[in-house]
Amino acid sequence: MEELLQQIEQYKQEIAATTAANAEELETFRIKYLGTKGIVKAVMGEMKNVPGDQRKEFGQVLNAFKIFAEEKFATLKDSIAAGAQATGSSIDWSLPGSTIPVGTRHPLSIVRNQIVSIFKRIGFAVAEGPEIEDDWHNFTALNLPENHPARDMQDTFYVNQSPDYLLRTHTSSVQARVMEKQKPPIRIICPGRVYRNETISARAHCFFHQVEGLYVDDNVSFADLKQALYFFVQEMFGKDVKVRFRPSYFPFTEPSAEMDISCSVCAGEGCSLCKHTGWVEILGCGMVHPKLLENFGIDSNKYTGYAFGMGVERICQLKYKVNDLRLYSQNDVRFLRQFTSAL
Ligand code: PHE
Repeated sequence: MEELLQQIEQYKQEIAATTAANAEELETFRIKYLGTKGIVKAVMGEMKNVPGDQRKEFGQVLNAFKIFAEEKFATLKDSIAAGAQATGSSIDWSLPGSTIPVGTRHPLSIVRNQIVSIFKRIGFAVAEGPEIEDDWHNFTALNLPENHPARDMQDTFYVNQSPDYLLRTHTSSVQARVMEKQKPPIRIICPGRVYRNETISARAHCFFHQVEGLYVDDNVSFADLKQALYFFVQEMFGKDVKVRFRPSYFPFTEPSAEMDISCSVCAGEGCSLCKHTGWVEILGCGMVHPKLLENFGIDSNKYTGYAFGMGVERICQLKYKVNDLRLYSQNDVRFLRQFTSAL
């Protein structure tokens, strides 16, 4: 009898340790302990071998064992049902998964990349130059000698009070850097940051971005310049965009012009961006001044060239209707998150 009692004790421990994660495991438990050929039945069957005087006591033990197994079954069953219910109510499998936040490109980068890709398609290569520039490349080589009144057009930041080093005021300095190294044919664009000592407001900033273009070769004409720029604005703003050229002055080009495009914000109707004129200036341009070519040992009787310099912020403003220049450098993610582009 001792043996049987020990055996029951062991079964109880096994039962206590049993878990069931699902209906299948619950059923396995039921068959093993409570089924017609199960352990509880088998143990009950031992009753007939128990001597008469011990039967009462033994009957109680067996009964308690049966109840123990049945209760365990009920508990397992309840917990599975509760689990299924919890799963059913708190998780909606039809909801989309949680998203992984992805960064966006800065609007100025998007627009710069678009400009670069348009000009690359018509044979322009990308050139770069330093932002800390010397007087020669930023001014003198570009036909802006010391004391030239046109230097006042651009308020310059000088580096360490030195009159020789400055933060470039335009990307035209890269024209000088390219022409001193490379001989025609030259066909480059130069995207980059420039600096001017201006009071920061919605319409002006002490740094901004330009894309310079330079094309020097045999027989380059003003008509080529107009055609290249017309191609550019149509690619950038669509076929309906209109352009106009106004005569202007830059020391490094002759003749010089500024190009306006029809305002894409109001479609020419008149708005605050175009100051109710329907036109917005986007760039300065002209035929490379012969003096520049000579400065770099390029024969100005043989070669001609055109150059242009456009403001990236202005083009971005027309594309995305950004009305305050300061937004570009405040790093407000609510602003930045709005721009998505493959470029
Ligand atoms: N560098 C001029 C500016 O910053 C733009 C320009 C570039 C004009 C090339 C003519 C030719 O205003």
